[in-house]
Amino acid sequence: MTEVKEIVDDITGAVERSPRTLLDVIQLKQKDEYTYLHSVAVCTLMVNAARHMGKGASETREYGLAGLLHDLGKMGVPETILNKPGKLTEAEFLEVRDHPERGYQILAQSPNMPEMALDVCRHHHEKMDGTGYPFGLPADAISLVARLGAVCDVYDALTSERVYKDAWSPAEALSAMWSWEGHFDRTVLFSFMQSIGVFPAGMLVRLRSNRLALVLENKRRKTRPHVLAFYAARDRTFITPQEVVIQDNLANDSIVGWEQPAEWGFDDWEGLAARLKRGDTKLIAA
Ligand SMILES: [Fe+2]
Ligand SMILES: [Fe+2]
Repeated sequence: MTEVKEIVDDITGAVERSPRTLLDVIQLKQKDEYTYLHSVAVCTLMVNAARHMGKGASETREYGLAGLLHDLGKMGVPETILNKPGKLTEAEFLEVRDHPERGYQILAQSPNMPEMALDVCRHHHEKMDGTGYPFGLPADAISLVARLGAVCDVYDALTSERVYKDAWSPAEALSAMWSWEGHFDRTVLFSFMQSIGVFPAGMLVRLRSNRLALVLENKRRKTRPHVLAFYAARDRTFITPQEVVIQDNLANDSIVGWEQPAEWGFDDWEGLAARLKRGDTKLIAA
């Protein structure tokens, strides 16, 4: 009940502050069910990540509100374009790319709209290497909340089923996102992974116990992350590999960071990862 009450309080607060805008979100549902569900999902992911990052209650609310409103500009894009199974024409593409600015214009008319909601709405399609839209902003002009918005947005889109694609598993989505050089802020993306407790298989991570570990494939969708600890970071030596299940509670080991394989002398990281998975322990002596 406490949690449900909090949600209702939040919605109440948001309706009081900007009634028009919340009704626009409901409108989005009639226009396009996917965008509505996607908005709620991004809101949830933003709130979860903000809490994980240690943000206070009021800031966390603003992250959530920003997530909920980020695609409001799709109100102005025809449903036939939003749900088109095939490739978009140049004109349709331009129309879709206009949604951050359209959304911003709608939100800016609301008197008490938090700056964060305006920011995320306008900038959630910007990329760290400056190739995003609508402005092609350089990394240092993209705020933390907009960077997180970009991560939550793409994660939810990839893990959703659409008319033109199947839903990817959480680990597949994160693996792809991690591989897209220049798209996301890696620190923010890694925090996001920690907040949902999913990491791409094959990643090299550091554990709280100061061991390096390989993230293993998750056999089933909803299990905790499994990693294989194989290296003592302080001594820079291989250790007998040990499978560790990452839990939420502090009594257990946890994933505290990611590492660059080359910086640890793991030049053939894929080969090493394959040998670790096979249980080939000869490498410890090597
Ligand atoms: Fe968008
Ligand atoms: Fe979106």
